[in-house]
Amino acid sequence: MSLPAYERPTIVRHQIGMMNKFGRLQGVRPQTHIDGVAVADLVAEHGSPLFVFSERTLQNRYRELYEAFARRYPRVRIAWSYKTNYLEAICRLFHKQGAWAEVVSPFEWDKAIKAGMTPDQIHWNGPYKPDDALERAIAGGTLLHLDGLDELARVERISQRIGTRARVAVRVNMAIEGQSPWSRFGLNLESGQAKDGIRRLVAGGRVDLVGIHAHIGTFIQEPEAYGQSATKLAALANEIKADHGILLSFIDLGGGFASRNTLKSQYLAGEQASPPFSRYADAICDGLADLDYPARELPTLVLETGRALVDDAGYLISTVEANKRLPDGRRALVIDAGVNLLFTSYWYKHDVVPAQEFGGLLEPTIMYGPLCMNIDVMRDTMQFPAMSAGDRLVFRNVGAYNVTQWQQFITLRPAVVMVGADGRVARIRRAEVLDDFARIEEVPEWLR
Ligand SMILES: Cc1ncc(COP(=O)(O)O)c(C=O)c1O
Repeated sequence: MSLPAYERPTIVRHQIGMMNKFGRLQGVRPQTHIDGVAVADLVAEHGSPLFVFSERTLQNRYRELYEAFARRYPRVRIAWSYKTNYLEAICRLFHKQGAWAEVVSPFEWDKAIKAGMTPDQIHWNGPYKPDDALERAIAGGTLLHLDGLDELARVERISQRIGTRARVAVRVNMAIEGQSPWSRFGLNLESGQAKDGIRRLVAGGRVDLVGIHAHIGTFIQEPEAYGQSATKLAALANEIKADHGILLSFIDLGGGFASRNTLKSQYLAGEQASPPFSRYADAICDGLADLDYPARELPTLVLETGRALVDDAGYLISTVEANKRLPDGRRALVIDAGVNLLFTSYWYKHDVVPAQEFGGLLEPTIMYGPLCMNIDVMRDTMQFPAMSAGDRLVFRNVGAYNVTQWQQFITLRPAVVMVGADGRVARIRRAEVLDDFARIEEVPEWLR
């Protein structure tokens, strides 16, 4: 057994203030393995930093979500929110479980096709749908969630030109108690704009209205907010049926369920504060019970859950580069992964633990990334054991949005691997290399 590296003793001012109502603190426990695979082996094979996804957790979360709703409502569809994580392996895994795709750009639409979706298995949201991409989508039967009336007019024109009736849904926004409204997307319900738009769409007679949609926000920890949304959407569906004789084929409640992360503004840890899927399902299915539809023709309930499906399955392994002591006595760690890879560090208190056994006292520690930027704080001060250069850390619950919104800034982006449900490890994205720039950068002849 090798001796631990010598570390010079220091006197540290004792800082009180890390208490919560459950006592002093949750202890820090190491995570040496991810689904049975040693963190040390993963780094030896694929380098550090390294994103790791657990296939088992992805499958479990998907099953939990689907079953929570399918137990309460007869027709349920999950449309995987591509922007949350569009690594092809992740998308294919969800599609294999039965998910369709939810996309918000031509790039994401193309990616969904590449991941095996047919155009009619795609819900297309968002405020930007250029004509050429719309044409392909309409021709293939993609479900277009209209953002406004200008878009409706374009969809009608293209439908007419190519001789295919588009299948459309109207996205609505609405007031929800206790939530700030996302009024920039879709047509407003309370002002009557949504109903006017639907009247105009039906009167135009050139496209088929097949659904309605609302996405009320993200990381919403109050299931009751969804209860209100479902109740309002059910009332709108009833009105569409009464006014226009149209039975919708789906009602889409969007995404936004909270993952088990902890917001910086949050008192309790995410594991305690974020509701299970069953509570969202209760609220939504209670709201949909107001639907005045024949039982056999109830619309499919569509969910575009993103972060709550994938966040818990993602890990970021990082390596300690250096220890420092700040003037106020806090320990600072410099690690090899920065906020360009983990931009969610800006608003989450990420759960980070050592990847090897440790001893000694915990002390207030702040974690800085490798960027030469003051904003590169990966974890605000927390109680943490002493670490030495070369030690590994594991950030948990980082699977949502990071590997789509990460930036190639100062450093190259690292590899991503998946640990399969059977323990196999496969790389699902290779680390970037300098030559990747050679493929996309050009130097004018006069500067060569
Ligand atoms: C229309 C739409 N659907 C689904 C999602 C996924 O949301 P979340 O990751 O919070 O579940 C988003 C995210 O912003 C969205 O805009």
